Amino acid sequence: MNALQDRLALVTGASSGIGEAIARALTEAGCRVVLAARRRDRLEALAAALPGSRVALLDVRDPAAVAAAVDGLELDLVVANAGLAYGTEPVQQSSPEEFAEVLDTNVKGVLNVARATLPGMIERGRGDFVTIGSVAGRQVYPGGTVYCASKHAVRAIYEGLRLDCVGSGVRFTTVDPGMVETDFSLVRFRGDADRAKAVYAGVDALTPADVADAVRYAVSRPPHVNVGEIVLWASAQASTTSLTRRAD
Ligand SMILES: NC(=O)c1ccc[n+]([C@@H]2O[C@H](COP(=O)([O-])OP(=O)(O)OC[C@H]3O[C@@H](n4cnc5c(N)ncnc54)[C@H](OP(=O)(O)O)[C@@H]3O)[C@@H](O)[C@H]2O)c1
Repeated sequence: MNALQDRLALVTGASSGIGEAIARALTEAGCRVVLAARRRDRLEALAAALPGSRVALLDVRDPAAVAAAVDGLELDLVVANAGLAYGTEPVQQSSPEEFAEVLDTNVKGVLNVARATLPGMIERGRGDFVTIGSVAGRQVYPGGTVYCASKHAVRAIYEGLRLDCVGSGVRFTTVDPGMVETDFSLVRFRGDADRAKAVYAGVDALTPADVADAVRYAVSRPPHVNVGEIVLWASAQASTTSLTRRAD
């Protein structure tokens, strides 16, 4: 029997990149997916392509909006994926508004989603809560202080939730990718497409579908198995500071 058939899933950051790929993979596996993010046009276009899906327009930084979006839903699976980075400047040269947005989205956003969705899953005695962390939550690289701090926090949240909810029937998983080719760098470099493209030049980066595949694997194990942590690297990347590029 398909473990994911008819499961109701929430995916944050479903309007782009990894979140969109996870929504597609879960739909293919039989889930009905609630597609959450801020950009209505992109979510509506995706919803039109994914049978059983629906749109939840929300900003994960807003706890009331997150709670309202999941009110009354009997969720089986939650993927806290929404996140972003800005720049590679050292902290002393970066703007407090930007680092507040990164920390509020990546850290408080995950907490807001956990707070709104865990009580129902705990009450029903089952569910999966997946965080999309990063290798930046395991290693720190120059110019990545704020983003790495946020992803180290995501890893601590994953570990803390597992401890607090042990025995509840809810499983916790963190999928931590290295370099994935998405709009992440376009956002990070504030819309500078050339700079964003250069990040992936000469590298077979991970694709969003690779990350979605890992999520799908983790959440389709039998109930007594909890895949805790998956770290995915592009084969060309040995650490956050070690990468080989083809000369093309
Ligand atoms: N790309 C990589 O190399 C990489 C590597 C490791 C981990 N990650 C992590 O993977 C996750 C997804 O990133 P991605 O690579 O797929 O980048 P992306 O293509 O830029 O997607 C980011 C998603 O997050 C959503 N989002 C951002 N702020 C939000 C907010 N305040 N409220 C709701 N949604 C918000 C965006 O939707 P809206 O703008 O429509 O709200 C978008 O759907 C992030 O957590 C990122 O840190 C990425």
